[in-house]
Amino acid sequence: MQQVNVGIIGFGTVGAGTVEALLNNRETISSRVGSEIIIKRIADLDLDTDRGISLPAGVLIKDAEAIINDPEIHIVVELIGGLTKAKEFILAAMKKGKHVVTANKALLAECGSEIYRVAVENRVNIGFEASVGGAIPVIHSIKEGLSANNIKTIMGIVNGTSNYILTRMTQDGLPYNDAVAGAVRLGFAEDPPTLDVDGTDAAHKLAILISVAFGVPVPFKSIYREGIDNLTPDDINFAGDFGYRLKLLAIARNREGKIEARVHPAMVPKNHIMANVNEAYNAIYVEGDLAGPSLYYGIGAGRRPTGSAVASDIISMARQINSGAATLMPPLAHARVRRGISIQGIEDLHTPYYFRFSAVDEPGVLSKISGVLGENNISISSVIQKGRGEKGAVPIVMLTHEAKEKDVIKALNEMAGLDILMDRTMMIRVEQG
Ligand code: HSE
Repeated sequence: MQQVNVGIIGFGTVGAGTVEALLNNRETISSRVGSEIIIKRIADLDLDTDRGISLPAGVLIKDAEAIINDPEIHIVVELIGGLTKAKEFILAAMKKGKHVVTANKALLAECGSEIYRVAVENRVNIGFEASVGGAIPVIHSIKEGLSANNIKTIMGIVNGTSNYILTRMTQDGLPYNDAVAGAVRLGFAEDPPTLDVDGTDAAHKLAILISVAFGVPVPFKSIYREGIDNLTPDDINFAGDFGYRLKLLAIARNREGKIEARVHPAMVPKNHIMANVNEAYNAIYVEGDLAGPSLYYGIGAGRRPTGSAVASDIISMARQINSGAATLMPPLAHARVRRGISIQGIEDLHTPYYFRFSAVDEPGVLSKISGVLGENNISISSVIQKGRGEKGAVPIVMLTHEAKEKDVIKALNEMAGLDILMDRTMMIRVEQG
């Protein structure tokens, strides 16, 4: 068994968590690998900040190229984030025959096809467990634990910031902006938190899960996404009145040749497993044709949890290097990247809907609204009408039976032209199971 040498590019929060994991659990790790994993070099532009970790002299350097060009380094760990430099480093390292570990969800979501292809061409591996769900070993679970399954459904709460914000709004009645400020203070939000609250971060993670589960890197832009930034305390309260909670869900389903892929706030029944994932926790539900449902739950961000996930990839690779079978597992665990599977457009979705209309307070408005819905094949299952709201608008809140999204879009457009609504209609999709 040979000593496995690692070079880490990026010594920020995740870099420090990874180094700590490898150093503090060194004995456990080497007994599992069968040899030592040595951190040979760490590159970061900031050589001064105290990360609370003592390193031998000369390990921390500024020059990332020195890691990529070091023939003794077997595994390069990219933890700088961002697209341009990170991609350059990853591709250069793979072309030098080095295995790569990254936590870079945006890069894999945007450029995964190219990166996986270059890995295969150079007979190296790329590990990215930390890119989705922090500490939760969901990528390994799909690639290995569920490798005999055709995956049917993935449904995840994969953005801890949004989940934290929705939890505070639901449990403490906090306004949206105060809840966002709390998430930023606690340090798990992206900088800026826009990418968390507008659904981009969750869509990055969904793109990665889809590529692993279905063996098809999907164009990131083809994933429908909406964030939580338009939700109001009213919607949270009305959802509660109907027996639902609001969650930001990332959903992918295999629909016979097409993949449904969407990120948006969804109403889920209060007794649904996802409704009870709170605070900044993440959970990913995966359904396989053989295994049936399985659920992966845990901490989705932070120094130690993310360090745990990065270290797990390093350990898998060290084992492969030691066994002489370094290319045993292709990046997506599919021997060939699958083709001919496309993403289903959101207009083809079929689901129940929640609407909150801000209606003019005059006789006949409710019948006009229900008339337009009926003409568009949308059947109402329940209605709540509360007292007069601000500006004289009356909130009329409805749940529908299953309807087609294209009918919903058409109905809402028709209603907007009728002079009975005083504000934009809120539409939220309902996810029953
Ligand atoms: N900002 C991310 C989240 C953390 O809130 O889930 C790491 O992906």
